[in-house]
Amino acid sequence: MFLSVVWLGVLGAVGVSATSSLDPRWKADARWNSPSKTEPAPTIDKSRFVGTNGPNFEVNNSNFKFIGTNAYWLTALNTDEDVNSVLSNISHSNITVVRTWAFNDVSTIPENGTWFQLIANGTTSVNLNETTGLPKLDRIVSMAEKHGIYLLLSLTNNWNPLPLDNITNSTSGSGILRRDVGTNNSFPRNALSNDYGGMDAYVRAFGADSHDAFYTNETIIAAFENYTTQIVTRYVNSTSILGWEIANDPRCNSSIGATPDCTTTTITNWHARIARLIAKLDPNHLVSTGSQGFFCADCPKVFQKTAPPLPGPSPAANSRRQNKGVPLTNKRVLEERKEARKKTRALKIRSEPSEGVKVRGKWVATPTRRQEAVGMGSAFDGSTGVDSEDLLSIPEIGFGSFQLFPDQNQYAPDDPNLPAFNNTLQAGLDWIRRHGESSQMFGKPVSLTGFGLVTQDNAPSFVPFNSTVAPFANDQFGNLTSSPTQLPFGVTDQQRNDAYAQWLQQGIFSGLAGMIQYQWGQGNLTALNGTAISPVITENGIVPVQTENGISPSDGYSIAGVGQESAETTLQGAAQQFVPDT
Ligand SMILES: *[C@@H]1O[C@H](CO)[C@@H](O)[C@H](O)[C@H]1NC(C)=O
Ligand SMILES: *[C@@H]1O[C@H](CO)[C@@H](O)[C@H](O)[C@H]1NC(C)=O
Ligand SMILES: *[C@@H]1O[C@H](CO)[C@@H](O)[C@H](O)[C@H]1NC(C)=O
Ligand SMILES: *[C@@H]1O[C@H](CO)[C@@H](O)[C@H](O)[C@H]1NC(C)=O
Ligand SMILES: *[C@@H]1O[C@H](CO)[C@@H](O)[C@H](O)[C@H]1NC(C)=O
Ligand SMILES: *[C@@H]1O[C@H](CO)[C@@H](O)[C@H](O)[C@H]1NC(C)=O
Ligand SMILES: *[C@@H]1O[C@H](CO)[C@@H](O)[C@H](O)[C@H]1NC(C)=O
Ligand SMILES: *[C@@H]1O[C@H](CO)[C@@H](O)[C@H](O)[C@H]1NC(C)=O
Ligand SMILES: *[C@@H]1O[C@H](CO)[C@@H](O)[C@H](O)[C@H]1NC(C)=O
Ligand SMILES: *[C@@H]1O[C@H](CO)[C@@H](O)[C@H](O)[C@H]1NC(C)=O
Ligand SMILES: *[C@@H]1O[C@H](CO)[C@@H](O)[C@H](O)[C@H]1NC(C)=O
Ligand SMILES: *[C@@H]1O[C@H](CO)[C@@H](O)[C@H](O)[C@H]1NC(C)=O
Repeated sequence: MFLSVVWLGVLGAVGVSATSSLDPRWKADARWNSPSKTEPAPTIDKSRFVGTNGPNFEVNNSNFKFIGTNAYWLTALNTDEDVNSVLSNISHSNITVVRTWAFNDVSTIPENGTWFQLIANGTTSVNLNETTGLPKLDRIVSMAEKHGIYLLLSLTNNWNPLPLDNITNSTSGSGILRRDVGTNNSFPRNALSNDYGGMDAYVRAFGADSHDAFYTNETIIAAFENYTTQIVTRYVNSTSILGWEIANDPRCNSSIGATPDCTTTTITNWHARIARLIAKLDPNHLVSTGSQGFFCADCPKVFQKTAPPLPGPSPAANSRRQNKGVPLTNKRVLEERKEARKKTRALKIRSEPSEGVKVRGKWVATPTRRQEAVGMGSAFDGSTGVDSEDLLSIPEIGFGSFQLFPDQNQYAPDDPNLPAFNNTLQAGLDWIRRHGESSQMFGKPVSLTGFGLVTQDNAPSFVPFNSTVAPFANDQFGNLTSSPTQLPFGVTDQQRNDAYAQWLQQGIFSGLAGMIQYQWGQGNLTALNGTAISPVITENGIVPVQTENGISPSDGYSIAGVGQESAETTLQGAAQQFVPDT
């Protein structure tokens, strides 16, 4: 039902001035430009704002659930037509939410491409240039409205590792700042999700020496609050914003290390402060954290007092919502893991009896049984500085978020009775279920804001969030750029689709309010030198390739290329089922 929305008028809520001074390379599409300043301000259709009701989102008093996709690079595209065609394709897949970066920090003004904020020498300034600055984001916000898409806008990023190399051997004459080594996998600025500035860009420019200075140093906080204020007030009336995500994957550590003082209370207090600011500036949109959703039952709490009582019987006529919130304790997590392992072991013994030892008619310990991992693991012990339940308890946090990236995080110790893929699959299912329980427990919507698996086809472009190197790419000699232990890396397309389908299903069953796949991919984009959609760069310089055939950036998770159709079908299938149950 959220698909049958009638989108009002041509006018976004955001004023965008005329585009007469546009750079000719910028193929502005007049349809997306807002009216001249003399026209009266458009009426805001407040019924389009997304609110909440217990663990659900609501639009116009109706339950709103969504399947979304990520496209961090949306603001880095080179033409309005490109943005329009990406949003059009996304909406044709029945995807209604797009999560993207609303920040693009630089330390020097780049020759080409998008940038939103210069952070250098202890000062900041935003870029209001029509072609390269915030007006670009204005047009995207307006276009999203036309396509019936809500944007989840992130305000900063935990990750911003510096480039490794300044290649000076190019026949083009100038150095090319590359974000890895090799010939076929050079990343221009903004190609990677961790190359848009973010927390460490502030930390460096303000001369601090730890990542967590971002959360505690008043000068740096003031600078981030300043940027946040400008962005949030700019779109306060826009009906195509789902909400504000304070930061992508915030945690104590990053490419710049943390002090020992950083704990979950550091991260929670900072979120509370920023959430309060945003809520004060913008009463129209929800605020979320953007954290990866790590738990810590035993951590000291800032907001979470006691776990609220179990909700009463689930609403009748809603058999899918049979999960109740269950308080998280380390004891319960360990017991559940033990139980699950008992089951998989029994299954394994049944299917491969030779691995067990039969003693007086009973199957007893296989060698694997004694390898049970101890400890909660980093997803449950607070070591990242994230306590998602305390974050969810911040009064101004309207909905919770978590992510699922098994190639980069360990969510549970591997079950030795399961093949690698099934461990990945199962850990994801448990992770989703647990966040569904958290949502019911705390009576707020929780959204999976990013999930992805690297496939074997995508492995060469995979770059971990804390890295600038594609470890599974080939260098100019055809050698792998690092020596990975596990090859081939990644799952098959079939396994990816299988996992996505099962995870989405689990999310629907567990009462998640929305799920956002990571990430969209698309070809036929306009390529321009020095931008995220660049002509191919080789060791010998810039090769003049088909500039009309640019492919959207990938950090290893894009569905562009092989397998795109099946991945889209999987998402569409979930979108079909993920309809409001009112
Ligand atoms: C989108 O949803 C509508 C309504 O449920 C459905 O008719 C249509 O087939 C869906 N489109 C795709 C591409 O799944
Ligand atoms: C920052 O300061 C350095 C050293 O004074 C200077 O070279 C650089 O241009 C400054 N950067 C900006 C963006 O002003
Ligand atoms: C706030 O941002 C504006 C515009 O970018 C800038 O001019 C101003 O110096 C900033 N103020 C602080 C305290 O950083
Ligand atoms: C905006 O940026 C473009 C591209 O860098 C430049 O050509 C143009 O002169 C700038 N416009 C203004 C008004 O500064
Ligand atoms: C420059 O490129 C050439 C040809 O690819 C190569 O032989 C040479 O080793 C490179 N030099 C450096 C310093 O990388
Ligand atoms: C990269 O190398 C080129 C050529 O030597 C040089 O002009 C440029 O300043 C270097 N850039 C950086 C950021 O070091
Ligand atoms: C915060 O950072 C500023 C700028 O780097 C520095 O001058 C100041 O001493 C720092 N404050 C604290 C409390 O560390
Ligand atoms: C948003 O709308 C309110 C009135 O509803 C108005 O006072 C305010 O100026 C508008 N803000 C923007 C940025 O358009
Ligand atoms: C990120 O990478 C840096 C440099 O390799 C390392 O020091 C840091 O510990 C890493 N941080 C995380 C959270 O992995
Ligand atoms: C692993 O997962 C696949 C795909 O869902 C499933 O077909 C298979 O039965 C699972 N294997 C085990 C041992 O659980
Ligand atoms: C690349 O691999 C070849 C063998 O395929 C080897 O002889 C060569 O030393 C390697 N080069 C580098 C730079 O590692
Ligand atoms: C910026 O774009 C111009 C025009 O395409 C190109 O000549 C120049 O090399 C680009 N600069 C960089 C750093 O890519």
